[in-house]
Amino acid sequence: MPGIVIVGAQWGDEGKGKITDLLAERADLVVRYQGGNNAGHTVVVGNESFKFHLLPSGVVQNKEVRIASGVVIDPRVLVQELDTLEKRGITPRLRIDPRAHVILPVHNALDEAREAAAGEGKLGTTGRGIGPCYEDRASRAGIRFEDLVDEARFRRKVIPLLEAKAQLLGKVYQRKGPAQEDIVKEYVDLGRRLAGTLGDVSEEVHSALQTDGRVVLFEGAQGTLLDLAFGTYPYVTSSHPLSGSVFVNVGLPPSPLEVIGVSKAYTTRVGSGPFPTELDGKVADRIREVGKEYGTTTGRPRRCGWLDLVMLKYAHRLNGFSQLALTKLDVLSGFKKLRIATSYRYDGVEIGWPYDIEVLSKVEPVYEELDGFTLGRTDSYEDLPEEAQEYIAFIERTLEVPVTIVSVGPARQQTLFKSKPL
Ligand code: GDP
Ligand code: IMO
Ligand code: MG
Repeated sequence: MPGIVIVGAQWGDEGKGKITDLLAERADLVVRYQGGNNAGHTVVVGNESFKFHLLPSGVVQNKEVRIASGVVIDPRVLVQELDTLEKRGITPRLRIDPRAHVILPVHNALDEAREAAAGEGKLGTTGRGIGPCYEDRASRAGIRFEDLVDEARFRRKVIPLLEAKAQLLGKVYQRKGPAQEDIVKEYVDLGRRLAGTLGDVSEEVHSALQTDGRVVLFEGAQGTLLDLAFGTYPYVTSSHPLSGSVFVNVGLPPSPLEVIGVSKAYTTRVGSGPFPTELDGKVADRIREVGKEYGTTTGRPRRCGWLDLVMLKYAHRLNGFSQLALTKLDVLSGFKKLRIATSYRYDGVEIGWPYDIEVLSKVEPVYEELDGFTLGRTDSYEDLPEEAQEYIAFIERTLEVPVTIVSVGPARQQTLFKSKPL
């Protein structure tokens, strides 16, 4: 199986970083295919913890890592990430596709201005300029990495863009944009620094996939319900985390992929938007505290709720999971009873996932109640209490997808293999 994609099955932060790091051992290339530094992926190895916003999590295994054309990159964040790793003794073997777009400080400024202007109606973005950068890409006004590394070409393209943004920030939002000449100078330096990392990632991955024995791991960012088209629009991100988007975002023809969906044993969401199984009060507080449910990128408290199989069924339909990695099972340890949503009730009728978020925001989840469990020492899947195994079996039966990986803690060794994932 040469191509494997790790995709978030929920609203992000499912533990994709941990699963990518684990499976990277078997990979020759680890590729980020969408999103930007709105992502925050955590890898824990022994006493060390790594947080990545742009670099693929495969760097910890010292793998060749790639950032594909579908990613939007803030070069300031990337350079900081590279420097931090260098100090920790890791020199990433990185290549960036020159078609990837550059996030500029005006994108951050616009993201923030829009959120502030929206007041109560804000999306709760990460403020990293992701939406405005993808907008420029779609409107064909954006700056690509191939522009950034060529000073004359960069100046020619960026000045009109900065001027247009200054008008927008000033006239619509009454804000003064960041100083043009400072941006240009800083970014020319960043371009010089990163010039050596550019290369045709599309071509390279294509050829790796055609070489016997080479394994490519695609690391998704965000999650299925944050997908621009199929998520809870407009409370979504501006890219396509779905497994199928690997092809367009990396620049590959469609071919069969192993699709590993990553889901927590419960549900979380950070930012605004509907969340049918959301809890408040003691249960939510307990999950948040035990699960340390605070954003990796922004530190915001995550909203918490029970596992939602209506949503995961929809995610399976969209991504075609061949297997699931279930994370954070340890966080549910000690509850007497656990609940899992299996359908929704709307206007007195039982329904599945509705595409209309006005409906989604009004549904009442219908729950199945399962016995809780307390985890003791677990070195293998068989060590899990019967009730925990039943919790997992219930998910498998409902979704008709095998759970191969069960995660019971942030560290590499806190992982149980129910069956061989690869
Ligand atoms: P990602 O964005 O999908 O990579 O996930 P994040 O890194 O943003 O958030 C997941 C958090 O849960 C990180 O702090 C991980 O170290 C942690 N984590 C991952 N798996 C487990 C697990 O099985 N149990 C616990 N308690 N923490 C986990
Ligand atoms: P990882 O890869 C969780 C959410 C934001 C907001 C919405 C839009 O770590 O799972 P944006 O800044 O993208 O315009 O914000 O998307 N969001 C994430 N939530 N995990 C992420 O990434 C996210 N990236 C964006 O909170 O609701
Ligand atoms: Mg995250």
